[in-house]
Amino acid sequence: MSQAPHSHESADVAARVERRWAIVVIGLMCLLIAMVIFTGLHWAMMPPSRVETVDPLSLHISGEFVESNLGTATESDGSVTVRIVAQQYSFTPQCILVPANTPVTFRATSADVVHGFLITHTNINSMLEPGDISTFRTTFEQPDDHLMPCHEFCGVGHEGMWAHVKVIDHDAYTRMAANTRRLSCVQ
Ligand code: CUA
Repeated sequence: MSQAPHSHESADVAARVERRWAIVVIGLMCLLIAMVIFTGLHWAMMPPSRVETVDPLSLHISGEFVESNLGTATESDGSVTVRIVAQQYSFTPQCILVPANTPVTFRATSADVVHGFLITHTNINSMLEPGDISTFRTTFEQPDDHLMPCHEFCGVGHEGMWAHVKVIDHDAYTRMAANTRRLSCVQ
């Protein structure tokens, strides 16, 4: 019977340790939720708010993703729209030309399997799925070169799937856009 006070004591210790861990776990959960809210508001990282679909089998035949319509188009309000198709194992166009200090809308989709869509040093980071159009809006603040790697495993050629985003001065872009309907920097 001399063990009774001991087991009482160890039950107290166990309860105290459990309470301490519960506080740690609740604290971690609050931290993670706070991070989601912070990144959502501060970096505008949000899941897409709408779903647009497209038939991946007729991409090349009709609609906005036919080859002659890919690349950068200047809109009447001065903004630009970039249309991109991803396929094993490249993006079309391979080099995307956009003006700095101009609202840019990317519209991209996949012709075959799921690919990744990421532009370094921006908050653009998503997936391109066959059948869905992914849309992103951003503004590049200064002329720069960005890499655009596929970051979703899409087959044996995945690691060779890259494109480039070249941001050029707004006036230089306007001069180039005066002569053509669609722009890219593919040579
Ligand atoms: Cu496309 Cu990995």
